[in-house]
Amino acid sequence: MNDDTWRNDVTMLDTPPTEAQAPSRPSDDRVGIWLVGARGSIGTTVAVGLHVIANELAAPTGCTTAGDEFVGVPLPRFADLVLGGHDISSTPLSTRAHQLAEAGMIPPRLVSAARAGLEQAEAEIRPGYDPAGHHGPQAEAVRRLAADISGFRERHGLRTVVVVDVTSTEPLPDDRPEFHDRDLLAAVLADADGAPLPASAITALAAIESGSAYACFTPSAGLTLPAIHALADERGIAFAGQDGKTGETLLRTAIAPMFVARGMHVHSWAGANLLGGGDGATLADPEAVRSKLASKTRGLRSLVGEHVVAPLHIDNVPDLGDIKTAWDHIHAEGFLGSRITMQTIWSAYDSMLAAPLILDIARLLALAEEAGVRGVVPELGFFFKDPWGSDVHDFSKQAAELYAWAHATGEGVAAATAARRSEALGR
Ligand SMILES: NC(=O)c1ccc[n+]([C@@H]2O[C@H](COP(=O)([O-])OP(=O)(O)OC[C@H]3O[C@@H](n4cnc5c(N)ncnc54)[C@H](O)[C@@H]3O)[C@@H](O)[C@H]2O)c1
Repeated sequence: MNDDTWRNDVTMLDTPPTEAQAPSRPSDDRVGIWLVGARGSIGTTVAVGLHVIANELAAPTGCTTAGDEFVGVPLPRFADLVLGGHDISSTPLSTRAHQLAEAGMIPPRLVSAARAGLEQAEAEIRPGYDPAGHHGPQAEAVRRLAADISGFRERHGLRTVVVVDVTSTEPLPDDRPEFHDRDLLAAVLADADGAPLPASAITALAAIESGSAYACFTPSAGLTLPAIHALADERGIAFAGQDGKTGETLLRTAIAPMFVARGMHVHSWAGANLLGGGDGATLADPEAVRSKLASKTRGLRSLVGEHVVAPLHIDNVPDLGDIKTAWDHIHAEGFLGSRITMQTIWSAYDSMLAAPLILDIARLLALAEEAGVRGVVPELGFFFKDPWGSDVHDFSKQAAELYAWAHATGEGVAAATAARRSEALGR
């Protein structure tokens, strides 16, 4: 790695950078994170976390991109990230943050310390697309949302904006011809009376229309609809998804390769999830939970084989709030048919697992945009249950691919920056 390195923020906290080591990005090199679902549990946790990390009131523990593996990669600094977003809820961010503090999730002193950050983010939240209250063609909604994102970029002089969908999980839509055909899609968007497209598709279209990078943290349809995917490719935005890999699935994709590598045969992998909060309430709907159950088992099947018996339950337990508990029972067969069982219990505040990933994804997609990467970024599959553009689910392989991609992409960006500088000096 070259010595004129960009330093990640962990080392900056640990040892103040010297002149020679200090990142030399221009101060106007700011990047926007536009959270769709900005007032939700994840959105609020990101707003508090970003403010306290950027102001060095807390270390970026849990952020992959702040680790040693990313030293030398020219990522935007946390202090260069600016928050905005859409939501259909009108509960202010500060109220949500206090609720999450009272529930024991975010330390109250950090919520108090983040007051200014919450106010700044609040000022950049615009009404989202609410399917229940929308009248007229959906194309108008796409234009309005895209204009909100473009306005955010212009107001803050942002180099790039990364749109991240963190809205409530939607039911999976039944397949329709317009999902596959650009002309039909355009006709449906222009029709005030036709069957509406899912809200996640409107979000993805607004990201494309505004020329922003896009990430889908939910299992909703969004950019997976082929006609919208084709539009994103044509427009040349960088994108990644889908459905954040934060808890039980993270554990599964780390452990499952071990059984396989030791030649064991996994018969069954049963799981039960208990959670409350907004996500728990949404997933109590049997239609909404279908998309989540599908994305959670796909990775497991690809790792241990399609034969695996993998019953999975997600139950809403409102008093648990944002604490998610996941029990897994694994039954495998070893030497001469011997029985092996393993049981795991994972318990954590779900949004505290998700928020650092949002910051990581935004920093990495900003890097991709700066490097001119277009289309899906498969290496960001590391962050997702259902990685787009990749069939790699094995966590350690995903980590190796991510590190290699970040360094190669970062080297390209650093070389281009150096060339621009020497050209400017020569003028
Ligand atoms: N560890 C995790 O927390 C985790 C992991 C993977 C995926 N996810 C997914 O992330 C999403 C968000 O999780 P959460 O816990 O923050 O949920 P939440 O219910 O607390 O927040 C969702 C927010 O989205 C808003 N919203 C709903 N529809 C909208 C629309 N059309 N436009 C704009 N805003 C809209 C809601 O008002 C709410 O503020 C869920 O889909 C969840 O499945 C979470």
